[in-house]
Amino acid sequence: MAERKGIILAGGRATRMYPITTVVSKQLLPIFDKPMIYYPLSVLMLAGIREVLIIVNPEDHNSFQELLGDGSNFGIQITYKIQLEPKGIAEAFVIAEDFLKNDASFLILGDNLFIGSGLGRNLSQVEFKYGSHIFLYEVDNPSDYGNVEMNNQGQIIGIYEKPLTPKSKYVVPGLYICDATARERVKNLKPSARGELEITDLLKTYLEENLLTSTILTRGTVWLDTGSARNLYTASEYVRVIQERQGTQIACLEEIALLNGWITESKLKNLPSFSFKSPYGDYIRNLVS
Ligand code: G1P
Repeated sequence: MAERKGIILAGGRATRMYPITTVVSKQLLPIFDKPMIYYPLSVLMLAGIREVLIIVNPEDHNSFQELLGDGSNFGIQITYKIQLEPKGIAEAFVIAEDFLKNDASFLILGDNLFIGSGLGRNLSQVEFKYGSHIFLYEVDNPSDYGNVEMNNQGQIIGIYEKPLTPKSKYVVPGLYICDATARERVKNLKPSARGELEITDLLKTYLEENLLTSTILTRGTVWLDTGSARNLYTASEYVRVIQERQGTQIACLEEIALLNGWITESKLKNLPSFSFKSPYGDYIRNLVS
């Protein structure tokens, strides 16, 4: 069976958020009480993925490394690759060439938040087969995303990047499973009008060969993107409300590692975060019976 590998795309300049992102990577900004990157990383970990590649800007490499290290604190292996210029989401599969070798992968955008009970279990059950598997989510503003057209049987028959006239209310969030052929497919893509190697164009190549499957993320899953200061604030507020109401932490990497059996309680007690004088640290100390 092929390895389950994950890629987090955390490059890009996020100029739409200047001055917040002038000197800090967007994916290091806080979503309430944790850096944004914790959230996509938690999704991969919940999906049972232990080999993770994080693609970063050259100037942010050290900060990510300092924050997450080699992943051993969370019972996983993290490696980093630099994206010199943001050339589009699909480029991730080319940058990840050495990491992926001949394996399929789960690609998640570093600024997408997925929160929902049972999400990890559902994702861990998706098989990495030949082809590509995507997730669909119903939104009110489909023109802002990759949008799909479906037939009466619910099969995808078309996929369009930010269409002015959307074909349905279903869009493709930043979570994609692609087989090992993705890299070669991307090498044959031409940049779009906005100068990017579009993930939608990559998915179209799978669709044309009948190799694109999908799962609808139900309303029980919350998907938030954080592409503007306003969205960032909304996501923070959402996380704060749920956490304070339930007394639980969303995207506590140490907790997921412990529950997955990837770190022991004694390892947890020796982690730097076990001594954090913050609510996050309090929560981690409470995990130990
Ligand atoms: C990108 C993709 C789009 C996808 C979205 C999810 O959009 O191009 O297909 O639906 O991410 O967040 P962008 O963030 O580049 O505008």
